[in-house]
Amino acid sequence: MIEVREATFYYPCRKGSPQLLFEGFNLLIPQGSYVALMGPNGAGKSTLGKMIKGLLSPSSGQVFIGGQPLRPGEISPRVGYVFSNAENQIVASVVEEDVAFALENRGVDPSIMARRVQDSLRLVDMEDYRFHPPHLLSGGQQQKVVLAGVLAMESEILVLDEPTSMLDLQDRQEILDLFAKIHGQGGRTILHITHSFEEALRAQEFLYLDNGRVSFFGTWNDFFDRGLLDNAMRIALPPILELIQELRERGHLIPNAVRSLDELRGFLLRNPQS
Ligand SMILES: Nc1ncnc2c1ncn2[C@@H]1O[C@H](COP(=O)(O)OP(=O)(O)O)[C@@H](O)[C@H]1O
Ligand SMILES: [Mg+2]
Repeated sequence: MIEVREATFYYPCRKGSPQLLFEGFNLLIPQGSYVALMGPNGAGKSTLGKMIKGLLSPSSGQVFIGGQPLRPGEISPRVGYVFSNAENQIVASVVEEDVAFALENRGVDPSIMARRVQDSLRLVDMEDYRFHPPHLLSGGQQQKVVLAGVLAMESEILVLDEPTSMLDLQDRQEILDLFAKIHGQGGRTILHITHSFEEALRAQEFLYLDNGRVSFFGTWNDFFDRGLLDNAMRIALPPILELIQELRERGHLIPNAVRSLDELRGFLLRNPQS
């Protein structure tokens, strides 16, 4: 579980007065959730993620991880953070050493470490690359190595900060499928920061942040039922959702549960008169 309670956060400003980003900010994400976090540039998405990991501390208020308060300056080993640029996050010259890096730093027993490294590499489908130098891997493979490192730490919370933004289409699909697989194993909470509405739809819940405030947090059903797509949220919709919106505006009765091309096809074949 992630809880942010009454958090206030300032960045020091170049021109004197500090920039207030969060004020009395509250958020509760139950354990095991898969939440997509969207919002305009500068909304505070990365800052929120870093507060949850403990890379940044609120000036007042508190962050709780699994019910335990994070002390100011304390970086939580229970939270794994994955940035866009995999290359910058890889530290070792051999894949398995990179995956083991954080465990080694924490003095984890070598036999436990070996098992965790192997299990995590298997989970991300990178077992065959354990002795490879990471810099020869594709961006997507490197991102899988970074993920394996986080999984090896048995982090119960994953903060994924635009993890696919530097990947090509195929790597992106593979990584997204991997998130679903990791989430499907149960237990872990995923907070996936993204600029892509299509990616966000893969999550179970949707959190929209604007200017340090939560504009929406709830399930996708709730989001669509409330007709929030028409709202002021500045989201670039995938073409299929634009088409569905347009059909609705022209009087076609397409239920809210229809959100993809396959669903639209299935619905129209069953209901040709709609
Ligand atoms: N290290 C920093 N120093 C000063 N201001 C920052 C720093 N990092 C981010 N900001 C500012 O804080 C706001 C939120 O940034 P960020 O959390 O990175 O937004 P997002 O990830 O939603 O794009 C932006 O206005 C940004 O300019
Ligand atoms: Mg960001």
